[in-house]
Amino acid sequence: MNAPVMNGLPIQAPPHVKNARLIAWVAEMAALCKPDNIYWCDGSTAEYDRLCQQLVDAGTFKKLNPAKRPNSFLATSDPTDVARVEDRTYICSATKENAGPTNNWMAPAEMRATLQPLFDGCMKGRTMYVVPFSMGPLGSPIAHIGIELSDSPYVAVNMKIMTRMGKAVYDVLGTDGEFVPCVHTVGAPLAAGEQDVAWPCNKTKYIVHYPETREIWSYGSGYGGNALLGKKCFALRIASTMGRDEGWLAEHMLILGVSNPQGQKYHVAAAFPSACGKTNFAMLIPPAGFDGWKVTTIGDDIAWIKPQADGSLRAINPEAGYFGVAPGTNEQTNPNCMASLNRDVIFTNVALTDDGDVWWEGMGEAPAHAIDWQGKEWTPAIAKETGAKAAHPNARFTVAATNNPALDEAWDDPKGVKIDAFIFGGRRSTTVPLVTEARNWTEGVYMAATMGSETTAAATGQAGVVRRDPFAMLPFMGYNMSDYFQHWLDLGKKLEASGATLPKIYTTNWFRKGADGKFAWPGYGENMRVLKWMIDRIEDKAAGTEHAFGVSPRYQDLNWTGLDFSTEQFETVTSTDKAAWLAELQLHGELFQQLAHHLPKELPATKAEIEQRLAA
Ligand code: GTP
Ligand code: SPV
Ligand code: MN
Repeated sequence: MNAPVMNGLPIQAPPHVKNARLIAWVAEMAALCKPDNIYWCDGSTAEYDRLCQQLVDAGTFKKLNPAKRPNSFLATSDPTDVARVEDRTYICSATKENAGPTNNWMAPAEMRATLQPLFDGCMKGRTMYVVPFSMGPLGSPIAHIGIELSDSPYVAVNMKIMTRMGKAVYDVLGTDGEFVPCVHTVGAPLAAGEQDVAWPCNKTKYIVHYPETREIWSYGSGYGGNALLGKKCFALRIASTMGRDEGWLAEHMLILGVSNPQGQKYHVAAAFPSACGKTNFAMLIPPAGFDGWKVTTIGDDIAWIKPQADGSLRAINPEAGYFGVAPGTNEQTNPNCMASLNRDVIFTNVALTDDGDVWWEGMGEAPAHAIDWQGKEWTPAIAKETGAKAAHPNARFTVAATNNPALDEAWDDPKGVKIDAFIFGGRRSTTVPLVTEARNWTEGVYMAATMGSETTAAATGQAGVVRRDPFAMLPFMGYNMSDYFQHWLDLGKKLEASGATLPKIYTTNWFRKGADGKFAWPGYGENMRVLKWMIDRIEDKAAGTEHAFGVSPRYQDLNWTGLDFSTEQFETVTSTDKAAWLAELQLHGELFQQLAHHLPKELPATKAEIEQRLAA
């Protein structure tokens, strides 16, 4: 057999790469994309440093002041490439039915024909980076391998932080191991001698998944979930279909450990939509008055959850780093996060201060002068006059999990941690109370399935619009949403049948606003008051009141030590208005209509029960 060729030359895979399918695929993609070079990443620190320097030389990175922020960089993107592009994201399953009504769909053959001319020559003048990565601890039976081919060195260095990336992946892969092929291009080929721009990208964007063949093709964007393909594309969209087929769950959830003063430790997985508080909750520091309580982070964005023979659920964080929202993060709201960001960070789309450090809205006192994320002069006076933001609202940091002072000792444990409770929490300025416990698994699935949330800057499009975001998975579902609801219900039945105690399910809302338009709940560390109530409920130690939707704490059921929060304020964040709830149930009904195909009958039945109780 002939060696694979690229542009007429054989592919030079390094000797440790022995997987024939991989080498053939790299050759095929190189022949299509026509890069000038192929570089096989080894994941070493030396390589990371070299690529970062190369990004500095290219003008993509600015090195921050090492005295203030050692080994850290700032990238600012093209102003048109700042967030996930949901309208350009496709699930190309064989049938439209399998993608379901919540996903964009195109027939695989048609999509392949669409992408072929776009990818043809898309990497001309650039280097194709071969990025081997493991989602989950290397070699663990629950981990899965991906290989991303990208023409973006920014992607390569981010993947080094976000995943277990490097040479060791090839040992696990061996000669015939499985991997998810992920191709990414910024879609900006360079003509001979053409000068590159700092953030190449293309107006045309496609984020494409083929669930049956487990392939990912991403075109035109260099930003976040559009480009770091291990994250949303693999660990959620492709992994959710793997989970459907193999009986496990891939969820948009943080995972935390919480210990009480008696030394009992529990694990909670929480699904909040994008930019709705997962990173914050995962790193929570209990406020004064919660002596002996401790929260530790297993993950801040994604959970892979597998049922065990004993009926328990064990979860791992498939990622190795955090790609978190910068604006709003400060020493008060999230001290653990701020400490994580002291060094070894890639910042994207925050502002550059005159002393070579970073700043964003909600970080603390504004600098007198800065360069904003678009490279423009920024002062508080300019901001006041024009409304210009120093940092983009979806500005993010990329940092290794090991930088987090609250990192759980089991964060890297291949066995994962046992889940004791699930939380589903949307961003709602009205209607939805602070916290409600589901009376049973089905009621919990109903809460999750019907969750509404106001859109945020994490995706392009209008922010602040209430939409249904079932399980916080709307943008991340790899298959039919109703089949996914059924998958959750089936899992509950399976766990029940094994005689195990099922995790409790809660729904929360940290985002109710008062008449003054301000958040009525203090949030952040104060969310511990709600978390404690949940843990006490698991231990059968806390009371609550039963109502139409489930069980909620009364004022006296929460610990208020150290916080001045009146019964009137509590009323503002917990009241349920009957008219508002009738309107809300109307929206649940509309969702069920949209998802009618394969919708589990338990869900409309639960809705009918709620309506009956509400009418009583
Ligand atoms: P993704 O990474 O997009 O999936 O988001 P995330 O859920 O991890 O969001 P993150 O924790 O980064 O929070 C995003 C925004 O919500 C930040 O601006 C926070 O300041 C804000 N936020 C987080 N927790 C709270 C809270 O308890 N109350 C209020 N009012 N805001 C919060
Ligand atoms: C989200 O939008 O939920 C994120 C950020 O976690 S990104 O990886 O860009 O999707
Ligand atoms: Mn997310």
